[in-house]
Amino acid sequence: MEAMQGAGVVVTGAGGGIGAALARRFAAEGARVVVNDLDADKVKAVADEIGGIAVAGDASAIVAEARDALGGTVDVYCANAGVASGGSEAADESVWALAWDVNVMAHVRAAHALLPDWLERGHGRFVSTVSAAGLLTMIGAAPYSVTKHGAYAFAEWLSLTYRHRGVKVHAICPQGVRTDMLEATGSAGDLVLQPTAIEPEAVADALMKGIEEDRFLVLPHPEVAAYYQARAADPDRWMTNMNHLQQKWETAK
Ligand SMILES: NC(=O)c1ccc[n+]([C@@H]2O[C@H](COP(=O)([O-])OP(=O)(O)OC[C@H]3O[C@@H](n4cnc5c(N)ncnc54)[C@H](O)[C@@H]3O)[C@@H](O)[C@H]2O)c1
Repeated sequence: MEAMQGAGVVVTGAGGGIGAALARRFAAEGARVVVNDLDADKVKAVADEIGGIAVAGDASAIVAEARDALGGTVDVYCANAGVASGGSEAADESVWALAWDVNVMAHVRAAHALLPDWLERGHGRFVSTVSAAGLLTMIGAAPYSVTKHGAYAFAEWLSLTYRHRGVKVHAICPQGVRTDMLEATGSAGDLVLQPTAIEPEAVADALMKGIEEDRFLVLPHPEVAAYYQARAADPDRWMTNMNHLQQKWETAK
């Protein structure tokens, strides 16, 4: 993609999975890529592989270092790092706090650090790896579902607030993607996500198509659009159907 030639791109949570696939794809498109993750060894491995720049650390606090590493400008920021916090209303407060911090507040903090420069230059691109759970829900995972709704809400707010000032926002909302995170979702993931799971590279393909078509909502699983419509059209019917899935899961586990 011509627009990515020489662009300065940051991908958080890029030590593996979807983030590594995004980093590889941006590098293949000619971008200069900062690879970030908490796991320094994985960061180095991916950065070495793609000729990128390794910046290990918490995604919440790396914008300044990444911007310096890119020579002063971040063109594309992918808020991809995430935690798959499972559990119910009874999940520990620390589980809820981590989910808020990584799945939502890291996006807010990055946007806060990026926006002044983007508004001054009149362009910038913010990519949020949300989840279909941010549009719908994920059985067995209240902290994940709630915080992914928060990530989607923030991306939506960012897009409508700054689109006339040159800021592009994309919200990627996949269902199952074959990564370590999917493996960790256990029996709920086996029931809901595994049957239609796709490879991380397919998520990168969907994002590139979304960028080319200038679309906010990026759906690597196109069927999610119909689920989202069904949920909005008849919430009670949708929740009854989801409850059937919940009961199926309770019987299976
Ligand atoms: N795998 C799926 O089925 C699926 C579906 C929808 C959405 N997602 C989302 O995709 C994103 C990437 O997940 P993945 O599936 O590639 O999982 P993954 O576990 O392979 O990758 C997530 C990466 O984020 C890193 N990370 C966690 N907290 C961090 C932090 N504070 N700072 C920097 N890095 C941090 C982890 O070390 C890990 O390498 C997540 O936001 C996830 O919620 C995944």
